[in-house]
Amino acid sequence: MSKNNIPQDKGLDHTLQVLKEGYHFIMNRSDKFDSRIFETRLLGEKVICLTGEEQAKLFYDNEKFIRKDAAPGRIQKTLFGEGGVQGLDGSEHHHRKAMFMSLMTKERLQEIKAFTYEEWNEEFSGMIQKEVNVYEAAKRVLTHVALRWTGIPLEQSQAEKWVDELSDLFENAADIGPKHWKARRSRAKAEGWLKKLVENVRDQRIDVEEERAVYQFSWHRDSQGNLLDSGIVAVELLNLLRPIVAISVYVDFTVLALHDFPDEIRKLKDEEKVKQFIQEVRRYYPFFPFTSARVKRDFIWNDYTFKEGRLTLLDLYGTNHDPSIWKNPNQFYPNRFESWHGSPFDFIPQGGGEFDIGHRCAGEWITIDILKVTLDYFVHGIQFDFPAQNFNYSINEIPALPKSRISISNVRHTSKEES
Ligand code: HEM
Repeated sequence: MSKNNIPQDKGLDHTLQVLKEGYHFIMNRSDKFDSRIFETRLLGEKVICLTGEEQAKLFYDNEKFIRKDAAPGRIQKTLFGEGGVQGLDGSEHHHRKAMFMSLMTKERLQEIKAFTYEEWNEEFSGMIQKEVNVYEAAKRVLTHVALRWTGIPLEQSQAEKWVDELSDLFENAADIGPKHWKARRSRAKAEGWLKKLVENVRDQRIDVEEERAVYQFSWHRDSQGNLLDSGIVAVELLNLLRPIVAISVYVDFTVLALHDFPDEIRKLKDEEKVKQFIQEVRRYYPFFPFTSARVKRDFIWNDYTFKEGRLTLLDLYGTNHDPSIWKNPNQFYPNRFESWHGSPFDFIPQGGGEFDIGHRCAGEWITIDILKVTLDYFVHGIQFDFPAQNFNYSINEIPALPKSRISISNVRHTSKEES
């Protein structure tokens, strides 16, 4: 017999609480109800919230949840774009996801690492720089990396314009008011430009290298054998460009970690240790708070009734800080990854489950690789000081970033003898 005893968050609507409590919204209620599942109301709609490993396993069961109409409209119109892979289900999703995953070969990952190193070198080339804002520098570096890696033909001067436009898409997505509209204008502009590019590639007016995303996506055929609409290709190209630039957020937190946990620096002696540090950055610091899906059809799980169509959120940040998974979750401790068993459901900063048949982030390996090169560069490639600044960030603000965005000064290249 089923019971519908999902704990209920009382009140008309809790959207404002999400804005006030940020990354702790689900955790706070999970603690209050002493339950890893509860129901609340957001944007006028009933929503089930889940947190924890078992709950992630449930959430990523394709028989139970779908993604159609799961993302709020304002997020689709800014962050994701309409008609992209995030909102697809079943074989249509698998086919489209394969288009993304086919880019993630060993060679292409090696290449993006090389581009990242070159672009950081370019950014810090020349004379000693007085003061550099790490976040702004990372956005410039990663925009160049993204444009090169995807094969977008651009002159240097045009590349600069893309920095702000791509940043707008993730910095202002959740905003209400003028910033949200600015993000929508940036998306329209970027999609329009990319759509034209795809049409030019198809008409062979532009030559692009075959292994690049621009070529691959332009000529990708759906499961019926048809080319994708050029507007959809534009959305999917932005699904590569935007998040590569968004890695700037993790770059900023990585450099903050160097400031806040200097004892960890001397441990960064080999690639494995560098990777553990990066994994801990992705676990410890806030980025994506939660992800969303809808119940595919009525089902019962652990005696709880899930109704068809019910919007369901999985707490990514909370699962990464779940004390039943992570010992002392609020301690920055990269060594913990020495004994991590690699479950696809307990460490989920970029979603969980499978890459190919699920909605786990297509760019997780790229993210780790770019951060590994970047951390190594900041530790062994350059030396710098931290001027006085406000390093604080608020866990109640989505997206969270250090107030100063992290400034470094007196930047100089490490000589061969010093490294
Ligand atoms: C900046 C660090 C990143 C974070 C925090 C992040 C986070 C996420 C999250 C939370 C999801 C949704 C997972 C779900 O709903 O189950 C996602 C999906 C996705 N991400 Fe990322 N991501 C990052 C970087 C990247 C990069 C670098 C790329 C591409 C190069 C990328 C491409 C995608 C795509 C295409 C999807 C949709 C996958 C699908 O629906 O099947 N992401 N990401």
